[in-house]
Amino acid sequence: APRVLSGIQPSGALHIGNYFGAIAQHIALQDRYPGQAYYFIADYHALTTLRDPPKLRENVFEAAVTYLSLGLDPARSLLFRQSDIPEVHELAWLLACVTGMGLMERATSYKDKIAQGIKPSAGLFNYPLLMAADILIYDGTLVPVGKDQLQHVEFAQDMATYLNEAYAADGPPLLVRPEAILGTAPIVPGSDGRKMSKSYGNLIPLFESGKKLRKLVGQIVTDSTPLGQPLHPDTCNVYGLLKLFADEAEQAQIAEWYRAGARDGQPFGYGHAKMLLADKIDAHFAPARARREHLLQHPDEVEAVLRDSAARARPLARATIDRCRRAVGLA
Ligand code: TYM
Repeated sequence: APRVLSGIQPSGALHIGNYFGAIAQHIALQDRYPGQAYYFIADYHALTTLRDPPKLRENVFEAAVTYLSLGLDPARSLLFRQSDIPEVHELAWLLACVTGMGLMERATSYKDKIAQGIKPSAGLFNYPLLMAADILIYDGTLVPVGKDQLQHVEFAQDMATYLNEAYAADGPPLLVRPEAILGTAPIVPGSDGRKMSKSYGNLIPLFESGKKLRKLVGQIVTDSTPLGQPLHPDTCNVYGLLKLFADEAEQAQIAEWYRAGARDGQPFGYGHAKMLLADKIDAHFAPARARREHLLQHPDEVEAVLRDSAARARPLARATIDRCRRAVGLA
């Protein structure tokens, strides 16, 4: 049976890129695979970049609140802390021992992070091993992620194969091969047109609203075409985000205003497009913001979901580890 599995780093306020690239799919998949949707908050992974214990705890709570506000339903999905299942490190080690350095050295996210000035640590280098273990330990078969995580999922496929070939060449496989699934927005652009990302400082947080939201949207980079002149939707960062909030008919309508540089006989420019975008973001997340306010007042409800989910996920992890321990010759 398919099992959906995905994780998110608790690296601060989650953003529109996380939402349209991953979280929206996660929530949608719980309808399709009720009881088989496993999501976790990757707090071990966050230690590669965050050294602030209270902040880490706060971020984990915030990530959980975010998922629950956006519609994660604990009756159909699990939502747990990665660190509540320490067995994952044991599988990461078994994978490390069958994985060649050549594969590890191809990891683009490691190189990207070093290029951004993050200190190279063994943890950062080994990140893909832990992520593969995250997926494989729960027999995850479908992994909904944004495009930047595709290589990691491919590594998990490779690592599953290495362990299977080393220890289960003749029998049933020890580990199940996962497949990545991309949503409709695998690379959500940020305010400067690059991928929206915390490390580029180009993000729009999910729950920003009012003036602050309008200020952030106002900072989206555009060219300097004067008001009333035709604009090109397909190369516009504002339109790139507007598309996410509009159905096809509405996209076509907005694109028409762009190309005409006019809406209903009045000039239409980037300022108008930005106002429209800010209104859409504000309205789209308003119900979630309200649920978030409630949850922030009820941390016990959030903690109960995390704890209960971990209790349900752990036996699965235990079963995988026991199977692998036996296969490799550990007592
Ligand atoms: P993270 O926390 O960086 O991002 C969480 C999810 O959001 C997606 N995403 C985006 N999608 C489209 N456009 C963007 N601008 C954008 N920014 C982020 C990411 O692709 C991801 O799906 N290593 C993972 C966390 C992880 C994990 C796992 C994921 C740990 N173990 C096992 C899946 C399975 C990460 O850092 O994602």
